[in-house]
Amino acid sequence: MTRAEYKRRRRALGKAIGDGGIAVLPAARERIRNRDVHYPFRQDSDFSYLTGFMEPDAFAVVAPKREEGEFVLFCRPRDDEREQWDGSRLGVEGVTTELGADQAFPLSELDEVMPSLIEGRKRVYFPIGSDPALDACVMGWVNQVRAKVRTGAAAPDTFIALDSVLHEQRLHKSKAEADIMRRAAQISADAHCRLMQLCRPGMRESDLEAEFQHACATQGARDLAYPSIVGGGRNACVLHYIENADRLAEGNLVLIDAGCELDGYASDITRTFPVNGRFTAPQRTLYELVLKAQLAAIKKARPGMHWNEPHEAAVRTLTKGLVGLGILKGKIGKLIEEEAYKPYYMHRTGHWLGMDVHDVGAYKREQQWRVLAPGMVLTVEPGLYMPSTDEVPEAYRGIGIRIEDDVLITKDGHEILSAAVPKHPDAIEALMAA
Ligand code: GLY
Ligand code: MN
Ligand code: MN
Repeated sequence: MTRAEYKRRRRALGKAIGDGGIAVLPAARERIRNRDVHYPFRQDSDFSYLTGFMEPDAFAVVAPKREEGEFVLFCRPRDDEREQWDGSRLGVEGVTTELGADQAFPLSELDEVMPSLIEGRKRVYFPIGSDPALDACVMGWVNQVRAKVRTGAAAPDTFIALDSVLHEQRLHKSKAEADIMRRAAQISADAHCRLMQLCRPGMRESDLEAEFQHACATQGARDLAYPSIVGGGRNACVLHYIENADRLAEGNLVLIDAGCELDGYASDITRTFPVNGRFTAPQRTLYELVLKAQLAAIKKARPGMHWNEPHEAAVRTLTKGLVGLGILKGKIGKLIEEEAYKPYYMHRTGHWLGMDVHDVGAYKREQQWRVLAPGMVLTVEPGLYMPSTDEVPEAYRGIGIRIEDDVLITKDGHEILSAAVPKHPDAIEALMAA
């Protein structure tokens, strides 16, 4: 991502919050896993979106039309000894020369400098309620300004959730963002193809998990966007199954929901395929129904459709299919209204995708589903998860299937970013046999 792109983002935010506004945003913190071991550090998505700065212990400020500069960073100062142990830091000079901060201060000066940045502003935008310590800090800075009102200082009187403007911005992906997401999806798609080719009965679920990670890391995507779900047989019916501890049995399906993160952007792909490379007749019947629902949903992923239309298309197709199989009985419209499909399909058909796998952005505006527009990226991921109940014919019990693609809305319709991994059953069998 270029410096110009980050600057454009800050400009757009500045415009949205207006000249009387100021945005304040903390970086993510390092977290202890156990004793001297930290969890791998992942920068806060909002913070990296605006700054491109990947270190912990920092604050960013965007203050439109500020004379000394609109973009201020507080960061860790250079420290030879700490850098010997933990790696290099940009430091106060580095964030101005490397990241284009107009002004920078060591983090130790935060409480001293921040009130002077806030003074004279009407509105403070920050991630309200995300961290009680941050709420207290902001109020502390504001109170410092209030204490000076008799000297003519003006304190802000309005506090606004930064999400309300920043997340709207993040929902619309630029060309540079779409390019990264295309590459992330391609890496994940290639890794899914590899798993189809490697899979054999008797392997552990965790063997496929490890292969996925290896395939992504060797293509430049060391991190995953979320813990991989590798569920053989009945485990596929547990929606967030991440134990990945069982062996894959001959004659079962395996559901793999896995995606890499590339340069801070997620991919999120699910494929379900037979462990031995050949669908049984009942598996194929259910699989083709889920695929039909997915294709119907993807058809609705285009500009002008509202957010819920892909879901509605998937639900209609699945409900009709379940009636066709004798699992549901009644009129389609009524069954949908009563959500009779829910014991078999209990989740939504997708979510926004971006820097976060369940990305930010409102799904409704003024109580109406929002309308899809070019630059939005969503997943389309219907599924069926068959319980062992009397309504379900024995041959279908315990089968779990989901098919998930990443879809970029374009001017003319959509682009399926994850199209490189097969999903038609014949194509899957052909790849597995190759
Ligand atoms: N992998 C999480 C999801 O599909 O929503
Ligand atoms: Mn997924
Ligand atoms: Mn998903």
